[in-house]
Amino acid sequence: MVDRYTLRRFDDAPPEAIQEALERSEVVYFEQSPVPLPSEEDLDFLREELPRQHKVKNVSYHPESDSIPRFEASTEIQERTKQILKSHRAEVEAFFRRNAPAWTPGWTVGTSSFRAVEEKGRDLKPRSNNEIVHIDAGAYGATNGNRILRFFINVNPSVDRVWGTKGSFAELFASQGAFVEAARGKHGRIRLEKSVGDRLFSGVVRGLSKVYPLLRVIDSSPYDRAMRRIHNYMKDTESFRNDTTGYKEIRFPPFSAWSVFTDGISHSAVSGQFALITTILVPLENMVQPELAPYNILAAAS
Ligand SMILES: [Fe+2]
Repeated sequence: MVDRYTLRRFDDAPPEAIQEALERSEVVYFEQSPVPLPSEEDLDFLREELPRQHKVKNVSYHPESDSIPRFEASTEIQERTKQILKSHRAEVEAFFRRNAPAWTPGWTVGTSSFRAVEEKGRDLKPRSNNEIVHIDAGAYGATNGNRILRFFINVNPSVDRVWGTKGSFAELFASQGAFVEAARGKHGRIRLEKSVGDRLFSGVVRGLSKVYPLLRVIDSSPYDRAMRRIHNYMKDTESFRNDTTGYKEIRFPPFSAWSVFTDGISHSAVSGQFALITTILVPLENMVQPELAPYNILAAAS
């Protein structure tokens, strides 16, 4: 059955309400973006120029290298895109500093991206297909249980962005035995502590990434691997993909904004073109309700 998901609006919410709702895996929705948008000219530029660039689907500004890696375009287009995404990222950071101050110590304000392609009908392998409901696993390499916070704005002037969801990670983990099996993997139990080998590998990656910042993406941890197995189960398993139990669609109109912990709620990009997406990694220990975090849900079941 497909219902219309009832969104909770947070246009006038006090900061703690936004923070608590996000930790409870709600979609925090704003009819109008609370973060200032790039100028009309800049939005026109992103919407018109980037789809013209060969192979551009997702353009991401990486703060660790102060660049947009693998972006083949003229210097002028590269520089303008970089400046727009960099300024937008600073606006999103300021928004969360105001609204979720408890999360800021030790956080990593990561990439700011522009999604240039229509999400619907892309012919992709299941694991890279965001049209299939999934939870996010890993961001910039290992999260080690830290949370993946994302802030979205639909910058299409006339078309909604549509998401699908089958509920929160907590609900799915409690109701789907296959999630527990996937988290166990070949170990036969849920293992979250890092082995000596894991620690050595992470140490080497940390050292190398001081020289080559983008290398941090190859880091890993038992927690991130367990989440990756769950992610892959959701995308690979036909019976789960075809099961519409609890499936709901959410429509985000032009210029609305929303935020979620994408490791805490299942989601798929059903359709839509042109969105700004900023990612922040929030330390697990900064959570006001840490028991709701996927790491602690897995730990409680181990
Ligand atoms: Fe995702």
